[in-house]
Amino acid sequence: MIEQKTLLFVGYGSMAKAIACGIAKSELRNKYRFEIAGRDLKKAQTFIDENNLNNLASVHQLSDVIDIDGKIVILCVKPYALEKFKYKGKATSVYSVMAGVDIEVISKHLASINYAKIMPNVGARYQKSSSAVYIKGDIREEAKEIVSSFGCAVFVDSEALVDASIATGGSSPAFLALVAQALIDAGVREGIKRDDATELVRATFEGFSHLLAQELPNDIIASITSPGGTTIEGLYVLEDRGVRGAFIQACHEAVQKSKKKH
Ligand SMILES: NC(=O)c1ccc[n+]([C@@H]2O[C@H](COP(=O)([O-])OP(=O)(O)OC[C@H]3O[C@@H](n4cnc5c(N)ncnc54)[C@H](OP(=O)(O)O)[C@@H]3O)[C@@H](O)[C@H]2O)c1
Repeated sequence: MIEQKTLLFVGYGSMAKAIACGIAKSELRNKYRFEIAGRDLKKAQTFIDENNLNNLASVHQLSDVIDIDGKIVILCVKPYALEKFKYKGKATSVYSVMAGVDIEVISKHLASINYAKIMPNVGARYQKSSSAVYIKGDIREEAKEIVSSFGCAVFVDSEALVDASIATGGSSPAFLALVAQALIDAGVREGIKRDDATELVRATFEGFSHLLAQELPNDIIASITSPGGTTIEGLYVLEDRGVRGAFIQACHEAVQKSKKKH
């Protein structure tokens, strides 16, 4: 019988939950034996229950020296909490989702043969994350399998590009949520009931995701802006107010912030 490998989550916050939820829905669920490390046993238990990780073997507390020997570690804590945990042994691979923290820093805390830095987003909960991935070591196949279990994996050539993908992935669900809320409020302003407006905007986003999968944004715009029509009036207002530039700058600030945080 092939021995089951251990996948150890360090942290049980939003990102750990989203990733665990994605993995638990995939076939990897039966491939690994899960462990979790965190400072609050109640929260760890909630994490286990919510994700139905029945084959979860052990829970490590902050006071433990966590044995990572031969394990795969998914590091999902806030960067400042990195040094709160103590480890022994050498992992086979460490996957860090910590924005702005380089592998060089991580390797000072956790010994491992291979490292990966990834930038997922909350879509992982539905196996729909967009994750930029940088690997240091010979784990391309393993990284593809693990990261793809909770969404799309795009391999990039440097750690800096993983941080850059805060713009295109990590933070962008929040920016899109702002757009969605604005469209719902716009509907309400025009007299549509809030529940109806919400349903309509959800369907718009759903349809839009299919369009975007097949067409470029500029082509989508061109296809719905007839000369002298209604959509071009709205677009003119958005361009006049610099919305496109504001989005690009907002993403830039988010990326810059990740570099300043430590
Ligand atoms: N959220 C996203 O969309 C997203 C996207 C990409 C990357 N990330 C990265 O994911 C990482 C986690 O973010 P998150 O959004 O999941 O945050 P979160 O929900 O606040 O979870 C943070 C985790 O860190 C632990 N932690 C915080 N302070 C600690 C301390 N002093 N000692 C021990 N554990 C501590 C928390 O445990 P307690 O609950 O016990 O404090 C929790 O397990 C961050 O490094 C972030 O850069 C997040």
